[in-house]
Amino acid sequence: MKYRIMEQTRPGGLLGQVYREVLIPAFPANELESETGIARTLEAGLGSLLVAVDDAGRPAGAAFGRWSPASQVQMLTYLAVDPATRGHGLGGRLLGDALETWRERYDPCLVVAEIESPDAPAVHEAYGDPRRRLAFYEAAGARVLDLPYFQPGIGGPHLRVMGMLLLVLHADPSFTQNRPDRLAGKALRTFMEEYIESSEGRKPADWDTQALLKAIDQDGGIPMARKDPGR
Ligand SMILES: CC(C)(COP(=O)(O)OP(=O)(O)OC[C@H]1O[C@@H](n2cnc3c(N)ncnc32)[C@H](O)[C@@H]1OP(=O)(O)O)[C@@H](O)C(=O)NCCC(=O)NCCS
Repeated sequence: MKYRIMEQTRPGGLLGQVYREVLIPAFPANELESETGIARTLEAGLGSLLVAVDDAGRPAGAAFGRWSPASQVQMLTYLAVDPATRGHGLGGRLLGDALETWRERYDPCLVVAEIESPDAPAVHEAYGDPRRRLAFYEAAGARVLDLPYFQPGIGGPHLRVMGMLLLVLHADPSFTQNRPDRLAGKALRTFMEEYIESSEGRKPADWDTQALLKAIDQDGGIPMARKDPGR
């Protein structure tokens, strides 16, 4: 089967179908924002949806990213491939195309992604295997930031997903100037404060957020490394 990758930066188009057929089956409900939330980001001119369509025009995979002008950080919010198509290179193609498109368009300080820890149990086959998912990103050059990271709660702090990993998919060289295994935290701090507030609806002031921000601000930068022993 041949796939064509197309990008849309406005709501409408394939969004509804991608949301129903690709995203809902691939993510637990607490990790997936509403279709309206994604449409709003596109409406604001801050979203990019890359869709892989087959010969019949059916979406078989998608990548969605959100740009933060204040921090100059791009987040790969969702990447998913239809379970029947996994393991044939489509996820790698989507990720490569997305990174190339976003680097050219935004010249970002960072491109980041959040994933479940490889220690997390695989809860449902359709959601994928957390260990293989980390291997997939590390094969594409991602490094794991050593942070007490959590996914901000979609709708409030009580809905946070604890124990997640934050990955760096691309960093402008000025952010790793002193040591290649350390990331300067400045842009990430601005990004996280904005991200938590916009997801949870209020400025965070709790211990978990303080611990995260303190780790981002640490002297000498945030340690980052590959984690998967298989690579
Ligand atoms: C992660 C994902 C996008 C990879 O897409 P893909 O088309 O299968 O990837 P490719 O064929 O380009 O690369 C193959 C690699 O992907 C990973 N992969 C393949 N199937 C997987 C699965 N069911 N679960 C997790 N990772 C998987 C493996 O690392 C694999 O390498 P391997 O064969 O050496 O083990 C896809 O598995 C998926 O949609 N998973 C569910 C949603 C998700 O986890 N998204 C990422 C968080 S935003």
